[in-house]
Amino acid sequence: MKILVTGAAGFIGSNFMYYELENHPEDEYVALDLLTYAGNLKNLDGLKDKKNFKFVKMDIRDRENIFKLFEEEKFDLVVNFAAESHVDRSIEDPELFLRTNIIGTSVLMDACLKYGVNRYHQVSTDEVYGDLPLDRTDLFFTENTPLHTSSPYSSSKASADLLVNAYHRTFGLATTISRCSNNYGPYQFPEKLIPLMINNARHDKSLPVYGEGLNVRDWLHVYDHCSGIDLVMRKGKIGEVYNIGGHNERQNIDVVKTILKSLDKPESLITYVTDRKGHDLRYAIDPTKIETELGWKPKYNFESGIKETIKWYIDNQEWMDDVTSGEYQKYYDNMYSNR
Ligand code: NAD
Ligand code: DAU
Repeated sequence: MKILVTGAAGFIGSNFMYYELENHPEDEYVALDLLTYAGNLKNLDGLKDKKNFKFVKMDIRDRENIFKLFEEEKFDLVVNFAAESHVDRSIEDPELFLRTNIIGTSVLMDACLKYGVNRYHQVSTDEVYGDLPLDRTDLFFTENTPLHTSSPYSSSKASADLLVNAYHRTFGLATTISRCSNNYGPYQFPEKLIPLMINNARHDKSLPVYGEGLNVRDWLHVYDHCSGIDLVMRKGKIGEVYNIGGHNERQNIDVVKTILKSLDKPESLITYVTDRKGHDLRYAIDPTKIETELGWKPKYNFESGIKETIKWYIDNQEWMDDVTSGEYQKYYDNMYSNR
């Protein structure tokens, strides 16, 4: 099979490329990315000598060039990771999220229809379900939970999901959607909680916890997300949605304290800052469908996964220094100074 992976130089996309080339060396891959601030070609360094791998710098909104690429390459399957992915940035600039996450998705699906691609997989998120109350730990997101978004980011992802369903029903495109909870692991850009806190702690900088740090996220190692996507895009039922999550709910403050403890840094580095606008309280995935229908099982639990992840960032300080130079400092000051 020839597979197009969009957003392949980002956090999950690059981990997915390693997963695929390791587990399906018989397939051929085109890795596409616009290389925005979040995309980093160095993430794919380990793959550049592989004969069945090639990188293309392109914008998924660029209809003309996307169509040309599809005409030339004749893909069998498209998996779309490309997105603006950070909630805080979506609060600053919603329109960019609508353009990339919604229009970009429609361009890719139009190309699939025009050039006869048999299968389209959309990488979505549990944030499309909104949030759950903190005091109802008996409640989980299932695939039937209504869409009920909070941020421009989650609204743009939910819109894209609705479009995917429309292309399936109206045009007969063979689609699947996966909705995963919060990922952690190597190559995550340090605007997101875990790498940001590791980096700040390493430099003895304060750790900015939003509100009281009581919000709950359901953490899944990126490897397990990749194995879930791989199963859904190859074996999932056409037209269906699959949730991916491993029952690893943690309060933010506990995650931050775990990081400090493991780096042997004091809790006095924690600073409570103004809360995120519209901050979702709790995410929690029910993964029964992917487990029972496709036999998916996560490999990591949070305790071993977070230890391995902290070690990766410490061992790869050069990667962190590289992505936090230049523009990142401006972003950090804009987002956190006077907060
Ligand atoms: P990321 O921000 O690290 O990576 C996104 C990638 O998309 C970057 O490499 C960026 O350069 C690329 N990109 C952005 N705009 C583009 C465009 N117009 N054309 C081509 N490429 C473009 O994000 P991530 O955390 O790796 O997330 C990947 C996908 O998974 C997203 O769709 C996100 O919504 C979804 N998701 C993320 C999580 C998570 O916890 N990070 C959880 C569930 C779902
Ligand atoms: O649930 C899946 C989603 O998880 C993905 O769809 C998103 O792309 C991904 O960014 C992530 O969204 P969150 O908003 O949950 O992740 P983030 O790392 O930004 O924040 C995690 C929690 O930590 C959240 O409750 C906000 C809090 N936080 C975050 C940052 C960056 C802080 O307290 N301080 C911070 O500095």
